[in-house]
Amino acid sequence: MTGPVPASTWEAHADLVVVGGGVAGLTAARTATRAGLRVLTVSKGGPTDTATVYAQGGIAVSSGYDVDAHVADTLAAGGGLCDEQAVRSIVAAGADAVTALADLGAVFDRGRDGRVSRTREGGHSARRIIHAGGDATGAEVQRALNAAGMPVLFGAAAARVVTDANGVAGLIVLSDRGIGIVHAPTVLLATGGLGQLYSCSTNPPGATADGIALALDAGATVADLEFVQFHPTVLFAADGVGRRPLISEAVRGEGAVLVDSHGNSVTSRVHPMGDLAPRDVVSKAIAARLRALGEDHVYLDARGIDGFSARFPTITASCLAVGIDPVADLIPVAPAAHYSCGGVVTDAHGRTAVSGLLAAGEVARTGLHGANRLASNSLLEGLVVGERAGLAAVERSGTATQVRDADLPEAAWISRESVQENMTAHASVVRDGGGLSAAEVVLGDTTAITPSTVTELEDVALATTASALVLAASTRTESRGCHTRLDHPDTDDDWRRPLHVRRSPDGTLAVTDLDRVPTGAR
Ligand code: SIN
Repeated sequence: MTGPVPASTWEAHADLVVVGGGVAGLTAARTATRAGLRVLTVSKGGPTDTATVYAQGGIAVSSGYDVDAHVADTLAAGGGLCDEQAVRSIVAAGADAVTALADLGAVFDRGRDGRVSRTREGGHSARRIIHAGGDATGAEVQRALNAAGMPVLFGAAAARVVTDANGVAGLIVLSDRGIGIVHAPTVLLATGGLGQLYSCSTNPPGATADGIALALDAGATVADLEFVQFHPTVLFAADGVGRRPLISEAVRGEGAVLVDSHGNSVTSRVHPMGDLAPRDVVSKAIAARLRALGEDHVYLDARGIDGFSARFPTITASCLAVGIDPVADLIPVAPAAHYSCGGVVTDAHGRTAVSGLLAAGEVARTGLHGANRLASNSLLEGLVVGERAGLAAVERSGTATQVRDADLPEAAWISRESVQENMTAHASVVRDGGGLSAAEVVLGDTTAITPSTVTELEDVALATTASALVLAASTRTESRGCHTRLDHPDTDDDWRRPLHVRRSPDGTLAVTDLDRVPTGAR
């Protein structure tokens, strides 16, 4: 829905409103329904307009002795900013979560021996990533969850989380049926990521950071926003903007190598794991090589992989669509925005500090990812924390709440093109203080609007989130994980802490822990 919302209003009552129809949202909705709660799930798109659908590589899942190694790999990738307790708790719950998904009908690929196949991706010390349809894991996860038949109100966008002195009172929704008021003591934000902050991303058009803005406006805290993961291998096109096809890391897991235009390895001597180094390392190595050569893409050589098209049917189709045959040709690739490692601060059950406000999936910051997410830990987190959030919603069910008005406050608007141009120019794989200051100036030049369409809501969410991200990125005067400052290239132990951002009483965004920031950075 992009036009003005009809003037009429509708009302509903629920124990839990879930915002988002991807892996975390639908898992939570199903769990809460099974626990006896009245659940209303809203999604601004349709049944397959989710980031979940585009996940290729798989689900990182470990059991037995491998749990410790999986935890260690996650902590190593996270650059010192993971919450070790959250990591262990989520990783250890992965096998049961995947079993539940398989019981629901999700079908994972199996080898000739009949066992579930496992591949490797960057930063993993073992083959522990299960996959479906070759490189269509997310699509199979979404299919299985959609088939579970949870009712979802599609075409309905969350506009405001309403709170009162006791916490969440409900949600205001914009939909084809008009403005909706949902009275509910618990709202779960499962809105996905923020890829649309950038001109080019692997994320779908709906990845407009809605949950970050809703949470900030409801009084919650966000953290680690400066750590945006750029996937190293996104299919390159000179004029490629919007959602770009991913070339899964699993392609390198099966033996493909990254080379520059001279045929030289991009990652040798950069990291002991070479092309299978953690994602931030590989993206930075590509960015450095491109700067050195003055070029705009490198190549993935996957010609040595037997049975490529059967193992990677989605990637094969994306390549063939632009005249590249991965069996015979080098695949042109460049980094593009892929995943937000930070988000709304929650515990490992999705609880924020605002009573009744939950967040799960990419929008949340549980502490699993730290400064750089380990590949294929995201579907894992969506399944595990989604289920826990569904159970956490039981805590306030039965609490009577009343939303008294459906007003939407004025908000700061800036054109989406302007946000995307600025973030791409100044807050990408590498940043520096000058560029971030320039971005702050542009992002500060806003117009006050009262959003009345979904597009306007999205624009406001992008503007808010861009400002919060740039604030955190300019405050963090070091390089760590996905945050590389050319003017502060070293990792600084004093900075081994997350940065929290909140809305101040005067409406501005502020870093809340400035007193703990190294003095030289202020
Ligand atoms: C990929 O298949 O490379 C993406 C997996 C992920 O983002 O975890």
